Amino acid sequence: MKTLKTVNSIKNWTGKRVIIREDFNVPIKVKEGKVEILDDERLLAAVPTIKWFKKQKARIILISHLGRPESSHDHFLSLYPIVRRLEKILKEKIDFVYDVFEMEIKERIDKLPAGKIMMIENIRFFSEEEADDPKFSKYLAGLGDYFVMDAFATAHRDDASTEGISHFLPSVAGPLLEKEVTVLSSIIEKPKRPFVAILGGAKISTKLGLVKKMLEIADKVILGGALTNTFFAAHGIQVGASKIEKDFFEQASQIPLNHPKLLLPVDAVAADSLENPKIISVKKVDNIGSSDIITDIGPKTAEIFASEILKAKQIVWNGPMGFYENQEFGKGTKAIAQAVAKNGKNAIIGGGETIDAVRDLKLDSKIAFISTGGGAMLEFLEGKELPGINNLYK
Ligand code: 3PG
Repeated sequence: MKTLKTVNSIKNWTGKRVIIREDFNVPIKVKEGKVEILDDERLLAAVPTIKWFKKQKARIILISHLGRPESSHDHFLSLYPIVRRLEKILKEKIDFVYDVFEMEIKERIDKLPAGKIMMIENIRFFSEEEADDPKFSKYLAGLGDYFVMDAFATAHRDDASTEGISHFLPSVAGPLLEKEVTVLSSIIEKPKRPFVAILGGAKISTKLGLVKKMLEIADKVILGGALTNTFFAAHGIQVGASKIEKDFFEQASQIPLNHPKLLLPVDAVAADSLENPKIISVKKVDNIGSSDIITDIGPKTAEIFASEILKAKQIVWNGPMGFYENQEFGKGTKAIAQAVAKNGKNAIIGGGETIDAVRDLKLDSKIAFISTGGGAMLEFLEGKELPGINNLYK
């Protein structure tokens, strides 16, 4: 088993310039020209790390991205509102640097008192970030003495501030990233059994690798959500006008429908439209009409899935069972969320939509571990090496 270099491997942080990569990529909404933060969980998740470094009297330089800006003119993706929110949470002022290339940045960092925080504007305002440009990584590294990678949720990105910088500075895993890796590794390496994986959501393209991996290591793999449409269609089962990913037919068809570990929907909610449904009915999955759109798992399926979930000693869930944003199509996701929460001490969940669904139902406090990672969690569980973590092992 590989061991991470953690913050404890550095003996003295006092006065050191510590660059901490966090993932403050929170959901936002622009209303009347103003940015509203819809959920600050990713900020709250980073707070223990920040507080730990404050206690060590390090000089803290926070880096994050927000969204996928086209350029630095994408003002709605400024980290300014995030800094203000973080100031409220931490009850202290944060020195905000609008331009990472500003002439006096090094002097400004030198003047930052020990235990105080600076935050740099959205690092994706510079194309060098996502290009993993070594010159940019080196420049960023020049601003600090150490690099702490704490952004588990961005660890699957090969970017200058997640991976590149670790080539130029002594680098360690932050406490949040360490916790994520420890919890998720334990599932891959030593899952408690029975281990039930629940995978839903829209796209089979992002989950196919994980489905295969889970069929190897889990005891049961439950599939729901629109991704099952592609799976059924690939096996020649009619899914009507439902969303499918034809490019993945070949790969999906390699997983047999009767795989002994696989649990698939037996019934589904079918509607005539997603936006403005007039006809909604429950149908067996082998009886979907040519104009039907599958919008949710059916009640029989929810019952079968829930009974399997309740028996589990280990649960991993990523992806809703249907178009849960519409209450009519959210019953399946709700039933699964309730079953997972009932067995919450054994449950790990991840992915923005899954977490939203669980929070909306006020069931989040029942879940043993909520990962900050969406794509990163999927790739980590799939067994892929994440670029943002690779250089942090001993
Ligand atoms: C996420 O929300 O999954 C991470 O912040 C990564 O964002 P990205 O998909 O834009 O790279």
